[in-house]
Amino acid sequence: MLQTYLNQNREKFLNELFELLRIPSISADSAYHNDTIAAATYIKNKLIEAGADNVELCHTAGNPIVYGEKIIDPNLPTVLVYGHYDVQPAVPLDLWETPPFEPTIRKTEVHPDGAIFARGSCDDKGQVYMHVKAFEMMMATNTLPCNVKFMIEGEEEVGSTHLGPFCIANKDRLKADVVLISDTSIIANDTPSIDCGLRGLSYVEVEVTGPNRDLHSGVYGGAVANPINILAKMIASMHNENNHITIPGFYDKVLELSAAERTELNKAPFDLDAYKKDLGIGDIWGEAGYNVLERTGIRPTLDCNGIWGGYIGEGAKTVLPSKAFAKISMRLVPNQDSHSITDLFQKHFESIAPAGVKVIVKPHHGGEPVVTPIDSHAYLAAEKAMETTYGKKPIPTRGGGSIPIVALFEKELGLKSVLMGFGLDSDALHSPNEHYGLFNYYKGIETIPYFFQYFTQK
Ligand code: BES
Ligand code: MN
Ligand code: MN
Repeated sequence: MLQTYLNQNREKFLNELFELLRIPSISADSAYHNDTIAAATYIKNKLIEAGADNVELCHTAGNPIVYGEKIIDPNLPTVLVYGHYDVQPAVPLDLWETPPFEPTIRKTEVHPDGAIFARGSCDDKGQVYMHVKAFEMMMATNTLPCNVKFMIEGEEEVGSTHLGPFCIANKDRLKADVVLISDTSIIANDTPSIDCGLRGLSYVEVEVTGPNRDLHSGVYGGAVANPINILAKMIASMHNENNHITIPGFYDKVLELSAAERTELNKAPFDLDAYKKDLGIGDIWGEAGYNVLERTGIRPTLDCNGIWGGYIGEGAKTVLPSKAFAKISMRLVPNQDSHSITDLFQKHFESIAPAGVKVIVKPHHGGEPVVTPIDSHAYLAAEKAMETTYGKKPIPTRGGGSIPIVALFEKELGLKSVLMGFGLDSDALHSPNEHYGLFNYYKGIETIPYFFQYFTQK
């Protein structure tokens, strides 16, 4: 019955997602605030059409949170579906083959049936919308087996600033048995997997000031510290020859995996040549003693995300700049804590600054790492659901990205999450030409109702 409904509505489900993707709901840029409201309203209306109750836009000091629910029987379990309708900025625009907010279908090597190219197609509108359509299917076919609540936010890409307070203020309304999230990746379309961990994040911006004004680089160069040179050296010094991070105490709390856990993690298939080919790199890079899966899954990192200062216009200008800046992120693993790591970074960065410059470290948003159980009833339901639709048992993996609110769900709502994502790491999330496979979109819609069924069967 569900499959028939899906087959009869393929085009409608795709056209609706296209409408949502056309709304540039970029959370990082306040110029798009009205678009975030438009995207939230679109989802709200579709939840109402599908039959959800108490659907509303919960306004915050930032972007609204879409809430809706269907309580069929208070004695049955409740699934809280979380996702985000905000997207990353689309820049650099000239690298998109088709405009980021005009969804287009193209075939790719890993998506021979076609993929939807648009900002947010995979992260996370496409994956959120699978849940709205799966809900519509279950309602239309009278097969919703338990209660469901939706909480779709618009600030995930900027740190979920207002969602934490919202959760704390709405503990009763958000009562549930599990949080179900589709905002992560699978290994490949023929190799389903479920993330059972996410990294945390500590993010800082640094400012290095040398002389009190920009100087002629010939008149002063060589005698006055150049903040760009200094900053580059300071950043470079934060990895040693083994690519270990040199901040004292940085690894103190890092939970080392047991040999058995490492063996388990490395059971996931990984093709190094395909990885290098996809990224166009001659070789990989990283912390000595660990392979790619470990470097992205269970080890912390430090990366410069942006660096600027001095003259970057056309031609050459001989200048010794007064200031240099950088944005630096650190991905964290259990049991590191983002506040402590930010403090350690700040102390270290100040301590390595030579006397010729002053430094300021400004912390941005952060988040805590999580691991989710793989023996819970909810995980097993997700496993069985994917096994049903893919014909293969999904492999538990560790995701390298962060969804900071997941740790807060656990702390404030006492809820564990299941990260049943359907994207691919190669779908270019946050990059130009982000896309989401048609196969992945429909497979998600097909799989979600099975999760509800298996989760309801105790
Ligand atoms: N959906 C991603 C996180 C993700 C992607 C997890 C792929 C696992 C696999 C999420 O939207 C995201 O991009 N999060 C940010 C964190 C945030 C604080 C900006 C991230 O990881 O950089
Ligand atoms: Mn996301
Ligand atoms: Mn994202």
